[in-house]
Amino acid sequence: MARIHTLPPELIGRIAAGEVVERPASAVKELVENSLDAGATRIDIAVAGGGADLIQVVDNGGGIHPDDIELALTNHTTSKLATAADLAGVGTLGFRGEALASLAAVARVRLQSRPRDLPLGADITAEGGSPKGAVAWAGPGGTRVEVRQLFFNTPARRKFLRAPETELGHIREAFIRLALSRLGVHLTLTHDGRLVYEVPGAMGFLDRAGLFFGAEVANALYAFQGERDDATAAGYIGERDRLRPRRSILPPQAPNRRPRVIRPGASPGTRSGR
Ligand SMILES: Nc1ncnc2c1ncn2[C@@H]1O[C@H](COP(=O)(O)OP(=O)(O)O)[C@@H](O)[C@H]1O
Ligand SMILES: [Mg+2]
Repeated sequence: MARIHTLPPELIGRIAAGEVVERPASAVKELVENSLDAGATRIDIAVAGGGADLIQVVDNGGGIHPDDIELALTNHTTSKLATAADLAGVGTLGFRGEALASLAAVARVRLQSRPRDLPLGADITAEGGSPKGAVAWAGPGGTRVEVRQLFFNTPARRKFLRAPETELGHIREAFIRLALSRLGVHLTLTHDGRLVYEVPGAMGFLDRAGLFFGAEVANALYAFQGERDDATAAGYIGERDRLRPRRSILPPQAPNRRPRVIRPGASPGTRSGR
């Protein structure tokens, strides 16, 4: 009969990390959401080998105080809420304090950050969980995260990764969702040194849709906006037949703002604008 024992903390961390970070695209999503939460107006994403070899996200957001940099890689540490009451009013994309710690548990992570108003920031690395001591960093204001060899210490998960092209497809999809839901942010995606997408901050929703799906799809979208009492509905409606092949990729994104894509064929009254 097998007896019951408690798992060592390192192993618990690795197992839990696999639930937060399923594949490279989920790491990209978590990192870009952190950049957005930090108020970045420019985010550059570079991946190699479908993200399995390298995911790098560089932003010009608020940065991390050098005294906090080690905490950023520690589980259940967040700057986004402090008390249970804060849960009711979460306005950020993240708040569980799990993403960076999870990545650090299952990859080789380097985090470099400098708040613009400090002359020096910090640079720290973690491989499979344990952060090494931070050193000073004099890079540009903002944050830079490098994630190398995702799942290097969880071979079962590493084996589960698909071909680089397939993983890149998931990354592109995550990128498209972010780019369509966050206007005003300059985003780039590079794969193996080749530019995949560049989305200038000033590019509007329809131009972004055109860039990702082609002019035919963009031309089949119609803006609407309506208000009643204190409810607002705004978004785009598409011609069902011309959008059908794309409907799966135009999701509403919580807790996000406008504009929002309503599924082809949905009536404008079925979703509110927030
Ligand atoms: N790109 C970034 N810019 C500024 N701060 C960041 C960035 N990424 C992470 N952080 C800081 O590290 C903390 C931990 O990040 P994360 O593990 O994703 O947890 P969460 O986003 O749920 O708070 C964040 O709360 C934030 O303070
Ligand atoms: Mg986060």
